Amino acid sequence: MNTQALIHIARTLVADDKGLLAMDESNPTCNKRFAKLGIPQTEAARRSYRELIVTTPALGECISGVILYDETIRQQKKDGTSFIRVIIDAGIIPGIKVDTGAKDMAAHPGEKITEGLDGLRARLQEYSQMGARFAKWRAVIAVGDGVPGQGCIEANAHALARYAALCQEAGLVPVVEPEVLMDGEHTLERCREVTEEVLRTVFNQLYTQRVILEGMILKPNMVLPGLTCPRQEDVSEVADATVRCLLRAVPAAVPGIAFLSGGQSGELASARLNAMNVRFKARLPWALAFSFARAIQQPALEIWQGKEAQVLAAQQALYHRANCNRAARRGQYSAAMETPSISIAQLAKIAA
Ligand code: 13P
Repeated sequence: MNTQALIHIARTLVADDKGLLAMDESNPTCNKRFAKLGIPQTEAARRSYRELIVTTPALGECISGVILYDETIRQQKKDGTSFIRVIIDAGIIPGIKVDTGAKDMAAHPGEKITEGLDGLRARLQEYSQMGARFAKWRAVIAVGDGVPGQGCIEANAHALARYAALCQEAGLVPVVEPEVLMDGEHTLERCREVTEEVLRTVFNQLYTQRVILEGMILKPNMVLPGLTCPRQEDVSEVADATVRCLLRAVPAAVPGIAFLSGGQSGELASARLNAMNVRFKARLPWALAFSFARAIQQPALEIWQGKEAQVLAAQQALYHRANCNRAARRGQYSAAMETPSISIAQLAKIAA
């Protein structure tokens, strides 16, 4: 393992106020999102959509890395150029989701355990040979009555740490994603308590499994009230609760924290990330970045709707959200940015 190379990749992923774009939806998840918009749920449609994303002009200005899925990393543009080539040529680092999904956990009703450790060493080698330089594994933690239990937290943390150690052995930077879900009526305080417990357990396991903290990225949830909680705290309260929780649980050796969006709207995710950076950036040991899927992609997907004629407009929307999040890393995002900064005509010119 080349530790310096790992550390360099991890730092590059959070450098220059850029962030990650997650486009690693599994086929079932991608199909579900397509179905809602009447887009055909076929490999051809998924390929076209991913081509739209990776060929978005100037994406590399705001995005340092993209997270691919097993189907996507093997796909090409219509003209035969591999997606990996397109991504690297855009100055973006390719990454890959390597877990095989969150499954019902035995003896833990309502809780999930993420699978995918069997055969992982060989899969990581293959992805590395294909050009991937980082990987992602997502654990899912539900909040509810008597949930999460210690068994679920410990098993998921253990799997995350074993995955992370295998990644570093293969020269890939692990993006460690323990996601405390937003679904439910729970309060912001309950989310903070669960998130802190989960992160402490994850970092204990990362130490135990000898993961190099300088060569990883943490991808956590923001600390938020449950979706159906009657009290919804404002942006600055969310920023305070999230940063306070992270300061207690995340070692300073970690170079970057790249949030998932978890179902928040694009605007809210940007506003909350912005508030954290405005209020705390100068005092934090790690970069506060983003690794959003829905909060970057959703408007673009809704515009595209599977139609070739909509590709440029969808790319404009994608670039816009990526750019808003780059501004949020600088603490320069504002609602005024929600008027698109670059016209379709300008985008077409860059593309030409
Ligand atoms: P969201 O930003 O849509 O939550 O997705 C992030 C991700 O990678 C989920 O694993």
